[in-house]
Amino acid sequence: MTTSEQILEALRQAAGGEVSSRAMCERLGVSRAAVWQQIEALRAGGYAIEACSRRGYRLVTAPDTPHAAEVAPLLTTRLIGRDCRYRAETGSTNRDVAALALAGAEEGVVVAAGAQTSGRGRMTRVWFSPPGLNLYFSMLLRPAVEPGRAASLPLVAGLAVAEALADLAPETVPLIKWPNDILIGEKKVCGILCEMQAETDCVCHIIPGIGVNVNLTVADLPEELRGRATSLRIETGRSFSRAVVLAAILNRFEPLYERWCAEGFEPLLGAIGTRDALRGRTITLEQGGRRVVGVADGILSDGALRLATEQGAVPVYSGEAHIGNGGLGG
Ligand code: BTN
Repeated sequence: MTTSEQILEALRQAAGGEVSSRAMCERLGVSRAAVWQQIEALRAGGYAIEACSRRGYRLVTAPDTPHAAEVAPLLTTRLIGRDCRYRAETGSTNRDVAALALAGAEEGVVVAAGAQTSGRGRMTRVWFSPPGLNLYFSMLLRPAVEPGRAASLPLVAGLAVAEALADLAPETVPLIKWPNDILIGEKKVCGILCEMQAETDCVCHIIPGIGVNVNLTVADLPEELRGRATSLRIETGRSFSRAVVLAAILNRFEPLYERWCAEGFEPLLGAIGTRDALRGRTITLEQGGRRVVGVADGILSDGALRLATEQGAVPVYSGEAHIGNGGLGG
């Protein structure tokens, strides 16, 4: 735990009561100046910490930021997110985790951000990442599997997100749009970008980067995303703590991921099938410059989409699916 996390822990344990700065210095083995410096940094991060008369501090309110100190008490995971690093602003959390991976970080580390200045989406698109409203995070995974198995991992992450969002907002029905979007009411609430480094026969690491629209309102959305994107708040009329949303996703993800590592993708197909946004629908698949129209006919055991076309059923491994038979507005 970092010094600021220890300070927060001490303040939380006091349950709104005062903690003297002397007690904190003794507990943490640091100077008063160091405590004061950390308190100032926490305040800058959105914590309302009151200085009390006898040189003590009191936690008044905590922000909803996915700061490690907010997320850790909510985790039920063994590994994923136990090392959780928060950045108020970063370029891209995928890029941050890739740097940690190359430096030898262990599986399970999570980087979450309050805002991204170069948030990346699939197919070199930009991911809209305004400050303070949404959740942006990436995880480092080092599964001992062949690279071919990786194609189904975005769907495992998607299932975790869909289940977590359904837990938090039971009035919504989050569905998985192959290969890695989560929709509520046909609009995108979450996107997943999985990046992998592999050798011919083994995966070095996979980084699923997840962006969830949490407290965004329609007014916050740029014109071009209105009508296509939504958020938990837009769908429910309620605000959500981003720390709670992050912990809920990690808690859902870890057991699914462990099963995927041990038993493969097939045992998860049933659960994914019940949340398949495309099954039975006519879709237009965009692959590079090519468009193929067909009916989505479920997900196969290797993570491919089964597409029934006029020429017969084909497995599809990549591309962008748009609901409908021509318009590319999906
Ligand atoms: C997509 O739908 O195109 C995928 C979007 C993925 C966005 C997330 S936000 C956290 C992580 N960091 C990034 O730069 N991208 C992913």
